[in-house]
Amino acid sequence: MTGPAPIRMIQVGAGGMGQVWLELLTQTADVELVGLVDLDLDLAKRALAAVGKASVPVATSVSELQSSNVGADAVINVTIPAAHHSVTTEALFQGLHVLSEKPVAPTVSSALSLAAASEVSGRLLMTSQSRRYYATLRNFRELIVGLGTLGMASTEFSLAPRFGGFRDEMAHPLLVDMAIHPFDAARYALGANPVSVLCESSNPPWSWYAGDAVATAIFEFEGGIRYVYNGSWCSDGFQTSWNGSWRVTGEKGTAVWDGESSPSWESGEAAVDDPATPMERADDHEATSGETIAGALEEFIDAIRTGRTPSGEVHSNIISLAMVEAAVLSAESGTRVRIDDVLESSYKTALEVEKSEEVRARLESWGSASRGLHQGH
Ligand SMILES: NC(=O)c1ccc[n+]([C@@H]2O[C@H](COP(=O)([O-])OP(=O)(O)OC[C@H]3O[C@@H](n4cnc5c(N)ncnc54)[C@H](O)[C@@H]3O)[C@@H](O)[C@H]2O)c1
Repeated sequence: MTGPAPIRMIQVGAGGMGQVWLELLTQTADVELVGLVDLDLDLAKRALAAVGKASVPVATSVSELQSSNVGADAVINVTIPAAHHSVTTEALFQGLHVLSEKPVAPTVSSALSLAAASEVSGRLLMTSQSRRYYATLRNFRELIVGLGTLGMASTEFSLAPRFGGFRDEMAHPLLVDMAIHPFDAARYALGANPVSVLCESSNPPWSWYAGDAVATAIFEFEGGIRYVYNGSWCSDGFQTSWNGSWRVTGEKGTAVWDGESSPSWESGEAAVDDPATPMERADDHEATSGETIAGALEEFIDAIRTGRTPSGEVHSNIISLAMVEAAVLSAESGTRVRIDDVLESSYKTALEVEKSEEVRARLESWGSASRGLHQGH
């Protein structure tokens, strides 16, 4: 018996992360790579040659490839964030499902436009929020369910990467380019959504970033849970893992996770290694065999084949993006910012700037961002 046909995919973006995706796509039996798009065609050709796929066609846009009948089903968008909205919109209206690198768009308002475009086109748009797909994060989440009513949570993140390039020039490199991962993981681990945030950011004298590489954000989540993110991208010594170091306390005890190895749990009376009862949650994503981007790709393919809503589906993922935008707004204004206020003011902006009449009509039909995001899928 033969299995389902591979998903025919076009990759857009052949830069640093694009090369990582190319290796994955070309090694995944469920995928057939049918084209590579980049503004820099020489880079695209070199990237294909490096994975032994020099015969795969290249172009500077998805439409150009589709008009030469490559017959794609889906696109993976690995361009720079500023290009995400235009590349994804074009692909959706070419009738293609889209898996997008994070952030799905650079602003919440442009992400709302993408959610509406996904509805109008009837095609799936999912963000590859790759750090959701760690088996040990899934275990941590299961332990957290056993803690009963939750009270507080925290992530300590301390690293010193020297990237060069666009991150060194951003006003908020840590919050905008990195913190979306722990913020999204906090929603996943706590099984709750954020209400508001108070954030301060700074840049130590020795920092090699132009913008703020240090931030502390205190989120209030549904149920009154406080989640504190304390992060730095310019701290040498005693570094944490890339997922950071986590602690969650509930009425029955505390769970900790170092971001890599198996999490542990402890209560006042119980022995250190007495496990809380691991439990599945109704809103959990399917367990994937792959981690990070392989897990995201697996969930994307499963969603295309089964119609199941993946955990990174754009409507839900926008809440993680709104956490970033609210944190930046709070850091700049010195005030607590409500997530709903960010969503609704972004909704107004999206209506004002939308160029596509169909997409604007769809946004208008929502009535508000919160209604659109809850009803959208
Ligand atoms: N999940 C993760 O762990 C992770 C890690 C690194 C990067 N990323 C994300 O991946 C994305 C790409 O990052 P990168 O480091 O590879 O960037 P990069 O600058 O190295 O590469 C981006 C590529 O996109 C191309 N490009 C730009 N605009 C385009 C357009 N309109 N059409 C076609 N091609 C276009 C550029 O020519 C370039 O080759 C970003 O969204 C970034 O946040 C995610």
